[in-house]
Amino acid sequence: MESIVDTSDEWIFERTGIRERRIAPPEMTAAAMGAGAARMAMERAGVAPEDVDILIVSTATPDRLLPATSCDIQALIGATNAVAFDVVGACTGFLYALTVAEGYISTGRGEIALVIATEKLSAIVDWEDRSTCVLFGDGSGAAIVRSSAGEKGILGTHHQSDGRLANLLYRPAGGAAIPMDEEVLRNRTHLIQMSGREVFKHAVRAMADSAGQALARSGWALDDVDLVFPHQANIRIIKATARYAGLPMEKVFVNVHRYGNMSSATIPVAMDEAIEEGRLQPGMKLLLVAFGAGLTWGAMAVRW
Ligand code: ACO
Repeated sequence: MESIVDTSDEWIFERTGIRERRIAPPEMTAAAMGAGAARMAMERAGVAPEDVDILIVSTATPDRLLPATSCDIQALIGATNAVAFDVVGACTGFLYALTVAEGYISTGRGEIALVIATEKLSAIVDWEDRSTCVLFGDGSGAAIVRSSAGEKGILGTHHQSDGRLANLLYRPAGGAAIPMDEEVLRNRTHLIQMSGREVFKHAVRAMADSAGQALARSGWALDDVDLVFPHQANIRIIKATARYAGLPMEKVFVNVHRYGNMSSATIPVAMDEAIEEGRLQPGMKLLLVAFGAGLTWGAMAVRW
């Protein structure tokens, strides 16, 4: 990063806790990464591609503006019997997508959902803006969602958005309102712009509030929670949210130092790592909590 913009490893680590981030090569698109994560999830769950009824992709970095990246992933993995669509909830997108999947399944519209969060932030950050480019990384995670008997699964959710604050974190141009042209390219307004301090402030309050509401809806007390998976944007946001919500850091899973902010992919990647490390065990009470552009935020209480 020091060779790309005027920054230092010390500044980045102190302010964000980020040591490394993954940058995908050109051919490894959001769909390609998502297909890789999807194949791993299907294999572990013992689900064949043609068994998938609902394929939902959360991404802020679609391969193309049309069609949805979920359709590209559907073709790549051969999930030919599924309905496929994208959910655009920025960093909160994985939780929104899980909730949509839960809705489909609980109302009998399908039995098996494949939920994928896949993000190629390196393609949309401004590599000349040191205040944002150091924060983000690329990655993908996926989950199979299906109904289960008994007191497990998604037990309580809280989601909210505030579109009045959209301009705190956005890509001003390149969509249908201000289509891509030479001026957009020259001014770099098709790339991410962020008011970091404002985002920080809102993120902490919103995530702490959402965590409390999701817990209340699940009937759990704060002490019942075994493990927390917060959106991994920045260690200072994670610590401040934990403090504000009254959650001890020992219960909070952190891997932001290895990946940076992979938007909606951070939570499924963190959960996968926790499984690999043996930290995530059946029966545990989990709290997932996220915040992102929109602004969007949410939390989910899950019995694993
Ligand atoms: N290296 C060195 N200096 C930098 C860098 C950098 N990479 N980036 C900014 N600076 C400078 C600024 O130019 C500024 O200099 P100045 O005082 O001479 O003007 C100084 O550092 C302080 O800048 P601030 O933006 O005030 O720094 P702050 O302490 O707020 O930290 C940060 C910036 C890390 C972005 C912080 O605001 C933050 O974490 N915000 C949350 C944003 C976030 O994580 N968003 C992710 C998307 S949303 C989500 O996923 C939750």
